[in-house]
Amino acid sequence: MGHEKVESNIGLMALLIVLVISVGGLVEIVPLFFIKDTTEPVKGLQPYTALQLEGRDIYLREGCYNCHSQMIRPFRAETERYGHYSVAGEFVYDHPFQWGSKRTGPDLARVGGRYSDAWQRVHLTNPRDVVPESNMPAFPWLLKNKIDPTMTPKKLRAMRVLGVPYSDEDIATAAAAVKDRTEMDALIAYLQVLGTSIKTRR
Ligand code: HEC
Repeated sequence: MGHEKVESNIGLMALLIVLVISVGGLVEIVPLFFIKDTTEPVKGLQPYTALQLEGRDIYLREGCYNCHSQMIRPFRAETERYGHYSVAGEFVYDHPFQWGSKRTGPDLARVGGRYSDAWQRVHLTNPRDVVPESNMPAFPWLLKNKIDPTMTPKKLRAMRVLGVPYSDEDIATAAAAVKDRTEMDALIAYLQVLGTSIKTRR
């Protein structure tokens, strides 16, 4: 009886569909704001240094995320290759996070420390010099471009508004920390810290 009413009244049906989807969505999403596992940083998680934060912006600007995810799924094939699966607490200072799902290249969630700075430099300048079959683009301009230190304190301050625990001192010393550093220095500093906040098996 009631069922027939719903099926023959499109307005009522639409309303009920919206209601069902909203309740279903809220039940899935709201608890995430309160579960410690997803809101608390993992033990030892450090905010990015000024140089690393600048490197992260280069990563975004150059579109590295179009080919590289930063989230290791909890499957054997992934953990064997990349290391411990990613946990939410590793990303609470990431605004925005770079999880992604597009993997033209390998996942980078735990690439920190896997290669030397020198390797990263050569690879980013021309990937074919170290990985002959690579189809990753080259980013040679990163060697020449300098970081603009006037922007850095503002970036830290913006991150602090979003909940990243930067101290006044961090902000005061940010410009000096990136002065005369190249975009390559910054990007490598960022890559080398990825995934290092928790101990992994690899
Ligand atoms: C068009 C796709 C593409 C883009 C854009 C791209 N990459 Fe790659 N990347 C690849 C591929 C494919 C590989 C695997 C071959 C190789 O090592 O060069 C790779 C490999 C890597 C590796 C080595 C990972 C490992 O575990 O061996 C790093 C580090 C890396 N890329 C960083 C970057 C950074 C940083 C950027 C942005 C500046 C970037 N990539 C942009 C495709 C891409």
